[in-house]
Amino acid sequence: MSEKPVKKINGGDTEKITRDYFDSLLLEMRHIDAVEPDTALKLYGHEFKTPIMLAALSHLDRVHEKGMVESARGMAAAGGVMWSGMGTDEELEEICATGAKTVKIIKPHANNDEIFRKMEHAAAQGCIAVGMDIDHQFGSKNRRGYVLEFPMAAKMLDDIKAFVRGTKLPFVIKGVLSAIDAQKCLDAGVRGIVVSHHHGMVDYALPPLQILPKIVQVIRGQIPVFVDCGLSRGLDAFKALALGATAVSIGRAAMGPLGETGWEGVRDIVNEMTNELNWAMAVTCSPTIDRIDPSVLHHKNG
Ligand SMILES: Cc1cc2nc3c(=O)[nH]c(=O)nc-3n(C[C@H](O)[C@H](O)[C@H](O)COP(=O)(O)O)c2cc1C
Repeated sequence: MSEKPVKKINGGDTEKITRDYFDSLLLEMRHIDAVEPDTALKLYGHEFKTPIMLAALSHLDRVHEKGMVESARGMAAAGGVMWSGMGTDEELEEICATGAKTVKIIKPHANNDEIFRKMEHAAAQGCIAVGMDIDHQFGSKNRRGYVLEFPMAAKMLDDIKAFVRGTKLPFVIKGVLSAIDAQKCLDAGVRGIVVSHHHGMVDYALPPLQILPKIVQVIRGQIPVFVDCGLSRGLDAFKALALGATAVSIGRAAMGPLGETGWEGVRDIVNEMTNELNWAMAVTCSPTIDRIDPSVLHHKNG
């Protein structure tokens, strides 16, 4: 007797779940005592025009010649923070030479010496912070233990404490999607966290905005809390900021404009999103990015 084939059930598309969560949050408009909003961001002793940053991307040569360097030019022109993911030392040198204030994210390489070496190199280039995408510790889903040819390894709290001590720069952990990890980051002396599921590393991952209030409660303003994944417009940024994010990053939303018009495309998408954020702040009586009343957000189901 032949066995019945197991029926494949589709679902759990993290990207869709994340988009739906953004779309489930609605704005209460407030007009009396409104002021002209200010979207400026202060971070690690630097001032920026916008809290919309470029996510820690990599391999953008597929999108535009010298895509990472071109993006850095765009971020410098927009007055926003540039983040850089994996890449060569030479690429980081070129990124920093554009004048873009840059956060360098290093992979959880199996060899900690390589991490210390890269942190030192980032500091020498004038990066404003350095960090690790901790969520890549098991490598890629389709090549366990590796990202490209580089072996990865899980990091313990003591490793993270050593990274924090091993650099004069603020050390950031990217890939926090749990209040428990957020508390561990505080315990380790980490100076910033990125709430992220790394564009859907696993199906059914929590939307960053859904867990954000819990994480913000743990962090209690002690360090910046950044958010990425699925942001595609200024209103998405507004919702993240209202829920307590310090700033947000866009990744794929900037890649189309980068491919079309290079650094100007990156500058323009950040400016466009900042304008929409500014408008949302204006019509909700939100004077600054750190003074958006979370009660202006309502879940569509009440
Ligand atoms: C082409 C590409 C390359 C990326 N490279 C890195 C990387 O090297 N390091 C890292 O921490 N995240 C990397 N990411 C993840 C992004 O930083 C970000 O978490 C993710 O894209 C979610 O944001 P988005 O939905 O706005 O794209 C990469 C994403 C893309 C699309």
